[in-house]
Amino acid sequence: MKTVLIRNIGMLATPRGTAAKRGAEQGQIEITRDAWVLIEDGVIAKVGTGDAPAAAETIDAGGNLVTPGLVDAHTHLIFGGWRQNELGLKLHGASYLDIQNAGGGIQSTTNATRAATERELADKAAKALDEMLRFGTTTCEAKSGYGLATEHELKELRVIRDLNERHPIDLVATFMGAHLVPAEYKHDREAYVRLVCEEMLPLVKEQGIAKFCDVFCEADTFTAEESRRILEAGLKHGLRAKIHADEIEAIGGSVLAGELGAISAEHLIVCPSEGIASMARGGVIACLLPATSFNLGAVFAPAREMVAAGVPVAMATDFNPGSCPCLNMQFVINLGCLKYKLTPEEVLTAVTLNGAAAIDLADKVGSVEAGKLGDLVIWDAPDLDYICYRVGSNLAKTVVKKGVVV
Ligand code: NIG
Ligand code: FE
Repeated sequence: MKTVLIRNIGMLATPRGTAAKRGAEQGQIEITRDAWVLIEDGVIAKVGTGDAPAAAETIDAGGNLVTPGLVDAHTHLIFGGWRQNELGLKLHGASYLDIQNAGGGIQSTTNATRAATERELADKAAKALDEMLRFGTTTCEAKSGYGLATEHELKELRVIRDLNERHPIDLVATFMGAHLVPAEYKHDREAYVRLVCEEMLPLVKEQGIAKFCDVFCEADTFTAEESRRILEAGLKHGLRAKIHADEIEAIGGSVLAGELGAISAEHLIVCPSEGIASMARGGVIACLLPATSFNLGAVFAPAREMVAAGVPVAMATDFNPGSCPCLNMQFVINLGCLKYKLTPEEVLTAVTLNGAAAIDLADKVGSVEAGKLGDLVIWDAPDLDYICYRVGSNLAKTVVKKGVVV
């Protein structure tokens, strides 16, 4: 058995449990001073204070803050190209949907993704994952959705599966064939919805290469009714529902999430009160993406209202080449406090345990407790407030994944 001891932890800050935290519980984390964590074969065996047990390897945390590894529960990790050309268009007043409707946006990334080989996509995503790891992310969700054709959606999902094998970050795959109606179906959107439901989803199920089905429920993208059909088809094929809802316009996505009992609804920037109520009734986790609001120059999701209504709040990057070219969860932490007005304790839960719950992994990651994976961040920080308050530096000093310094 391989034992690793992390000792001399000045402050250990972690939520506890194996399910999402809602309401007042979201801010109830455990703070332990002068702590140690013993990891055996990659799994946390014991957490304590005072005299530490002996271990084959010892890591000195230097009296610093230690938290669980960060869980980035929403990314569009696999894509060809970038879209820096859109910055100038935005600066001249074009909106996200203007750019999309003019053939830029998701369609242009789709063209680049279709042209890329599996190897090229994997190498590019691996580089992003390396950077995410250095910022403290140890588990990450990744969506397809820039293939928008059966062959290319499956190609993206295979890249995610293969990266999960070869990279230290654990990856969870989401099928998002319904990210946009691609150009070749613009005049027959019904045929594309049928392609997603009747051809793509059965193959995704047969190949066992995704855990969730997501859809971009948005003006000019997929209507609430189309989203319902696609997510119900996903459920029939064993894929739990996720939904991009109320990102730009509220067209019923959050209400639908509650009705379907989706595991999470994402964005929710302009989520109406009936959407919050529906998510609370349906037990949906709100996966909020504040770096996207920042990049779109949009308002910020009503996070405090969600906490007050008993909706568990998770936060993630939304890393993608368009609306959010940011993969840094530390920036998300900053925005969670400054823009959502969540407390540091609520934010920590959002980027660890609730993120884990949003990808159905709360029994394995998201807290520093016996039985969970040995995924931790040793911060260049004395306490939790410090990492919420410092902006623009990488404060992750040492990242530990399954007991190994990575
Ligand atoms: O979550 N909203 C849909 N999908 C992404 C953006 C994708 C893109 O712009 O390429 C998002 O914001
Ligand atoms: Fe997204």
